[in-house]
Amino acid sequence: MKHFQTFLALAIVFAVIGCQSSEGNSRKSQAILDMKRATDFHSYSQPDEAVVTHLNWNASVNFDDRIIRAIATYDIDASANAKRILLDCVDLTIEAVTVDGAAVDWSLGPEQAFIGQPLSIPVTGDSKRISIQYASAPTAGALLWVEGEQPFLFTQSQAILARTWIPCQDSPGIRFTYEAHVDVPVGTMALMSATNPTQQSADGHYDFRMDQPIPSYLMALAVGNVEFRSVGPHTGVYAVPELIDASEYEFGEMEQLLVAAENLYGKYAWERYDLLVLPAAFPFGGMENPRLTFATPTIIAGDRSLVSLVAHELAHSWSGNLVTNSTWDDFWLNEGFTVYFEQRIMEAVYGREISEMLATLSYQGLVDEVDEIMDTNPDDTHLKLHLQNRNPDDGMTAIAYDKGYFFLRLIEETVGREAFDAFLKTYFTEHAFTVMDTDRFITYLKENLLNTADRLTAIDLDAWIFGAGLPANCPQVRSERIEQVDANLAAWESGSLVTSDLPWENWVYQERYRFLSNLDDGTSAERMQELDKAWKISITGNNEVLFAWLEQSIRSNYTPSYERLESFLIKVGRRKFLTPLYRAMVETGQKDMALGIYSKARPNYHSVATGTMDELLEVD
Ligand code: BES
Ligand code: ZN
Repeated sequence: MKHFQTFLALAIVFAVIGCQSSEGNSRKSQAILDMKRATDFHSYSQPDEAVVTHLNWNASVNFDDRIIRAIATYDIDASANAKRILLDCVDLTIEAVTVDGAAVDWSLGPEQAFIGQPLSIPVTGDSKRISIQYASAPTAGALLWVEGEQPFLFTQSQAILARTWIPCQDSPGIRFTYEAHVDVPVGTMALMSATNPTQQSADGHYDFRMDQPIPSYLMALAVGNVEFRSVGPHTGVYAVPELIDASEYEFGEMEQLLVAAENLYGKYAWERYDLLVLPAAFPFGGMENPRLTFATPTIIAGDRSLVSLVAHELAHSWSGNLVTNSTWDDFWLNEGFTVYFEQRIMEAVYGREISEMLATLSYQGLVDEVDEIMDTNPDDTHLKLHLQNRNPDDGMTAIAYDKGYFFLRLIEETVGREAFDAFLKTYFTEHAFTVMDTDRFITYLKENLLNTADRLTAIDLDAWIFGAGLPANCPQVRSERIEQVDANLAAWESGSLVTSDLPWENWVYQERYRFLSNLDDGTSAERMQELDKAWKISITGNNEVLFAWLEQSIRSNYTPSYERLESFLIKVGRRKFLTPLYRAMVETGQKDMALGIYSKARPNYHSVATGTMDELLEVD
């Protein structure tokens, strides 16, 4: 029944985009996609020659030597004159390769920075199936093996790290379905971006299916001693036993978020939406792995105040997972749309006052980051990026997210919400399970929404998408509550308001964050002590508030916070927190302290965090 439903969903989608989903037509539909696909400089794959269509992954996960041993068998679709299929690999040991059951002479090409090596497998137009037996490296970039009494493994594949644990065509424009058969240590549960178990198996064996085609960056695996709790008919949470009660409460509104999202932009395409709480070393806030968002435990605040992150990852189920950026240069099509959608979910569920506070905070973050990037590399403030020969990670700035958001908000304000919502809903439906690049989006937008000279002039697409900085027509956001905080802060700084007069207890997290993150850099340690005494911030359960407090403590040389700073940095590996904290230490002449803490913390961090911190702290 489940399969039938999935089939039906896919059939409808393909009918809408004008081609059939039957296997006989897969080459035709692939060819249509190929024509539309832009060159992806971050992958060796040559989709015109041959593409993968389905993966059967048989793997065993070994914590002792930190190696995944696997056989990846792909169904492929090769063009009539195909001579080879190229897959991306980084640090994989390839042991044997077969094509339609026969051993073949494969080769690994020279290694290039970031993108690794091409695995070339000889095929012909008639080849149907390739099989690769391989092992991952203990240092594989996607994987973090967490030590301790409760071992835990998780992957982070986006942007181009899937190739460090599976040989694959690691380009967001190439989609495939998958099934997986995975052996893990008894006493742990394995979870993937696929159909998932809700209980541990007795023998450590788990089977998975993902029947909707996904790009490789959405391949995900986690292994640990986790439990499941249902929070709604289509929603649930997984967490380690110590966090399961707190997680069940914190994410108890997930079903409402899902319903709000569907009411905005159409039916949820992935059947279930669950969330896995990862160890604190997870380098991101969240990752939109289909059917199973991976999330940092630092959003468990005890009061559901940080759930906008869940709204964000859920929104990716449409923007990103359904309509996927063609290359990492088009990353704003994933993230900008997702921030816009996230804001709309937040508004629908929690009201406009809350969503406008969030937008006001994003605006401030965006203005600061635009200033910073304009000083070093103004081209990186364009929505459409140029990441050739660079790490696609460089594109993960507030530009894709918040400049993208304000661009879409400008369109909404120009054409009216009703017209924009209708446009977006159709956009997601018509392009479901396909890729989108910036130029094609512009054409689609002009044909379907910005079809008058007035609208085009009001928006100025070129300035937003191909121009630097923040255009002058950027929408204005206003939040009275945030303005009130700013007024309180100014009065406190000038001495006309004393600490005990500040309404900290009545402030929600957004207001507390605004106050702390806008304290003057020169705030004295004495003044910090006053706040600390009054508000006991070092023991707050809200990690965003704690983070803002710790950063200001560094800038104010407020040493009583330093013990908390160190324990925070050793435990938490979320890059969004690490970068500003280590940078603040460097900028205030406290680099020795930074290096001391980093030497203890580094073994706990994921490669995407150590990559950034090594550079920041000039560590080899
Ligand atoms: N897809 C991103 C995370 C990502 C982007 C990982 C690029 C690797 C490369 C995810 O949806 C995301 O944006 N996470 C944010 C949270 C969000 C609320 C802005 C994060 O982790 O900070
Ligand atoms: Zn995102």
